[in-house]
Amino acid sequence: MQDKNPKTDVRSSRPLIVTRGLVKKFAGKVVLRGIDADIYEGEKVAVVGPSGSGKSTFLRCLNLLEIPTSGVISFGDEIIFSSDYFVEKDKLDALKAQRKAYVTGCDDDTVRDLGALLDGEKQKTAELKKQIKALKTHEKLLKATSNRDGAGDELVQTSEKLAQTQKELAQSKLIAKQIKAQTKERKAQVKTALDPSVISSLNQKIAEQKEVAAKAKARHKKFMSAMEKSVDAHRRMTGMVFQHFNLFNNLSVMDNITLAPVKTGLKETKARRKALKAAARRGDECAKEELLLLPHKLEIIENARKQAYELLGKVGLQEKADVYPSTLSGGQKQRIAIVRALAMNPRIMLFDEPTSALDPEMVGEVLQVIKKLADDGMTMVIVTHEMGFAREVATRVLFVDEGQIKEDAPPKELFGNPKNERLKEFLSKVL
Ligand SMILES: Nc1ncnc2c1ncn2[C@@H]1O[C@H](COP(=O)(O)OP(=O)(O)OP(=O)(O)O)[C@@H](O)[C@H]1O
Ligand SMILES: [Mg+2]
Repeated sequence: MQDKNPKTDVRSSRPLIVTRGLVKKFAGKVVLRGIDADIYEGEKVAVVGPSGSGKSTFLRCLNLLEIPTSGVISFGDEIIFSSDYFVEKDKLDALKAQRKAYVTGCDDDTVRDLGALLDGEKQKTAELKKQIKALKTHEKLLKATSNRDGAGDELVQTSEKLAQTQKELAQSKLIAKQIKAQTKERKAQVKTALDPSVISSLNQKIAEQKEVAAKAKARHKKFMSAMEKSVDAHRRMTGMVFQHFNLFNNLSVMDNITLAPVKTGLKETKARRKALKAAARRGDECAKEELLLLPHKLEIIENARKQAYELLGKVGLQEKADVYPSTLSGGQKQRIAIVRALAMNPRIMLFDEPTSALDPEMVGEVLQVIKKLADDGMTMVIVTHEMGFAREVATRVLFVDEGQIKEDAPPKELFGNPKNERLKEFLSKVL
């Protein structure tokens, strides 16, 4: 049985994954706001939180299915992502915005107050326009039904209300016009009183920051091009299981599982053969011997099939090796998807809500497989809405909210004695 106290057990090992200041933006929208997380060998980390809080994005960043915007991720001894370019660029943009606000007078208190007044007046204008539209429609209706009892009085009242509202609208438009004129005047005053030393100090800061950002950009480009070569190798070490199983329906279960290991095995053997041949040509005797020992294509396929069969045994689905996914239940498909990820011998398994697309009666069989993997010592991060499962299996739970880890504690503590207000609110809805 695993030790459920990470501090006395797995924490004595080294973290397998470390993230620092992890930020992810999608089209300018910040989804991860600086995630600092350590995932130790052997840990089972559950990630919980409201929908849209960034749980999947965090998981996808860990295996570089999603390339982060900035921050650092290390895996084992390797830094697999590192960039501060967008942080430095944001600083540059902020300085430029500060200069623009100063030069155009927008950072002047009076201009700001006038701006707020104008916004209020504009809202009032829009509201009055809406009221006028509704009153006009009502007036039309009353005119069409004027022979109805009491319609005459109501028509008079509505027409009066309409006239009054139109007056208010004209007044509101006039006020808005006056505020605009005052703003223009104030901006002109501010412009004549601009302090050249403030502008030159901002210009100096912008020039320095431009240099810093340019250097960060060069580092970023260099890192990204190096990463292109290593990203596949990293993804192979992190098995990912999604909500929807993404099996290939035109391939048998066995072929689904062995496709990637066979492809990788062939590729690696080919590369090794090429290197050994070159060494052998230079007269390296060891290389010649190793060349003879390299596995052949059929051997690679056979080994992959053997391993797949063993793994199928672990999830109780050996008899399904030769069928096609369309003949399987959702629970069986997900168990196959888990085997497919395991077939790459990953160092960590990442599960993204592996049971949320399943019919309730199939949830248990998939959770059972994951629990067994956990008991066997597999390091895993699991995004889940199954709080009972998280409580039972996880060694640590992360509560993610609005792109940040708001609480990080063993399950007993996080569920039993939550500290963060948002977590308390979340748990009151899901427990
Ligand atoms: N590829 C993308 N392009 C643009 N926006 C995205 C993309 N992927 C995610 N987002 C946005 O990022 C935010 C976080 O999404 P994410 O899928 O990480 O949330 P989640 O916590 O996993 O939610 P759920 O519990 O519903 O699965 C959402 O607002 C989402 O719309
Ligand atoms: Mg998600």
